[in-house]
Amino acid sequence: MRVSLTVTHDTTGESMDDVFTVLENGHREIKRMFRELESSPNSANGANQAALARRRQQVDRLIAEHSQHESAEQEYFWPAVRELMANGAQLAEQGVRQEKSAQQTMADLRNIDPQEQKFEELLRTAAQEIKAHIDFEEQQVIPALRKVMDPQRAQQMGAQIAQRKQAAAEGRGRPHAAPRPGALKGTAQARNAGGSQRQQGQQGQQNQQGQQQGQQGQKRGQQQNRQQGQQQGRQQAQQNRDRQEQEQERSRGREKPMDPMGSGR
Ligand SMILES: [Fe+2]
Ligand SMILES: [Fe+2]
Repeated sequence: MRVSLTVTHDTTGESMDDVFTVLENGHREIKRMFRELESSPNSANGANQAALARRRQQVDRLIAEHSQHESAEQEYFWPAVRELMANGAQLAEQGVRQEKSAQQTMADLRNIDPQEQKFEELLRTAAQEIKAHIDFEEQQVIPALRKVMDPQRAQQMGAQIAQRKQAAAEGRGRPHAAPRPGALKGTAQARNAGGSQRQQGQQGQQNQQGQQQGQQGQKRGQQQNRQQGQQQGRQQAQQNRDRQEQEQERSRGREKPMDPMGSGR
């Protein structure tokens, strides 16, 4: 009797689903999200603003789930299909083309407001495209690949896809969202304006400082001039006084000539 051993748990006790189970679980979750949207109120049947805001969030979660699922398939699943199946290249080309088309529909949906009629039209288109693609994978590709893929490799691939999904859910390994062009432009303008205002402010401050220094220098100059003038005036006055005294001395000398022989005898 042949016993088939399949590892279903890793050393931590967590389930180790193979790639087929992981992808089928993903399909179930995407279809559940579509059912939820189909049963929720929308702009055509009287949804209020709060319901439309909730619908926006539901669709954004669906877009993220779908994008993560298809990009994992494009990285791991379709290369294995190409490698292991006789008609793998043709199946992979068809499958990836379906995925890209649906991803484009979802990208369009991201930019439309839920209260617009176009939003519900695109959502219906996305549902049709994605459900047809899931049927294609589950009915034509997965059963055929399961027959030719080594079970251990299928489990390794399942673990890789599950880890990648976990990392995306925790915000790891996901590129930063590019800022909206308007936001970037606004930031750059604000930054430039701020820099310009700072420069103008600095320039104004420098001018003010220069003006103050000029005024101080002018005051100092005036004070110095005043002091010099006063000093010169004092010197001039002293010289004038000296000259007058000398002249008085001379004139007294002329009026009373000196008696060199001692005439006072
Ligand atoms: Fe899939
Ligand atoms: Fe897919």
